[in-house]
Amino acid sequence: MPIELKNISYTYSKGTPFSKRGLGDFNFRVDDGEWIAVMGPTGSGKSTLLQHLNGLLKPDRGEVLLNGANIHSSASALREARRKVGFVFQYPEHQLFGGTVFEEVAYGPENFGYAASDVEETVKTAMEAAGLDFITYKDRSPHELSGGEKRRVALAGVLAVNPQVIALDEPTAGLDPAGQKMLLQTINELNKAHGITVIWVTHEISEIAALADRLLVLNQGRTVLEGSVREKLEHPLLNELGLDVPVAVTVARGLRKNGRLVDGRPVTVEEIKREILRLVR
Ligand SMILES: Nc1ncnc2c1ncn2[C@@H]1O[C@H](COP(=O)(O)OP(=O)(O)OP(=O)(O)O)[C@@H](O)[C@H]1O
Ligand SMILES: [Mg+2]
Repeated sequence: MPIELKNISYTYSKGTPFSKRGLGDFNFRVDDGEWIAVMGPTGSGKSTLLQHLNGLLKPDRGEVLLNGANIHSSASALREARRKVGFVFQYPEHQLFGGTVFEEVAYGPENFGYAASDVEETVKTAMEAAGLDFITYKDRSPHELSGGEKRRVALAGVLAVNPQVIALDEPTAGLDPAGQKMLLQTINELNKAHGITVIWVTHEISEIAALADRLLVLNQGRTVLEGSVREKLEHPLLNELGLDVPVAVTVARGLRKNGRLVDGRPVTVEEIKREILRLVR
């Protein structure tokens, strides 16, 4: 289920003195099973891009194609996009409105016509996959949970409708290290074992540098860098834009500058450690 954005332009508050360009002449394609990391300075258009993928925002110009069909061509096409492309917001409270966690997670399955008898099992499975114990959390109010728990509820709500693409907007922000690790494992399993496409917006690329396939860097509503994560993380533009580069990449650069031959393109601490040990041996 590839997604294509063709010449998308989107301006907020168009025609007012406050108008602000979100995306300009934007082209992008996501193929099945890819994991795409999206980076860019604050205000570069990352969240705007994500909201176009499942039709939360409608482009002023251009088309969003899901499996070749324009998602804004009909109500049913839009519904299909909403179901196939799950979205975890940057601020999870923006997407939580159920009275209880159960109701929240059941919303999707109920609205997409799951048989009532299947809903409980579906909710349970989705909650457990998102790291929420069913009995402990099902009757709690989503509004009285911690930031990390809210994010898990939002993720469970997305998983409950069995999406083929999951778009996550800075999903680890505000999570403790254990919570971050768990989320990464969950998403990695969905991607590697179930072939779910992942689009992950982050300011901290280190955590997914070894997991993601492709890097997309935005600036001022446009793509300024795109390609293999390992390759593009070495690009000086990242530093110029003030973006985070993994420590391993910086160390490898330093080693090379000092005439050391670093093998491959290390992006994790483990990988650069191996290289350093090899060099000092
Ligand atoms: N609701 C809105 N109304 C008006 N302008 C907006 C709105 N949302 C975003 N913008 C503007 O559109 C541009 C892109 O915003 P966007 O939220 O996509 O950035 P971002 O890359 O996600 O940033 P961040 O890293 O801070 O989340 C920014 O200039 C921003 O000020
Ligand atoms: Mg954003």
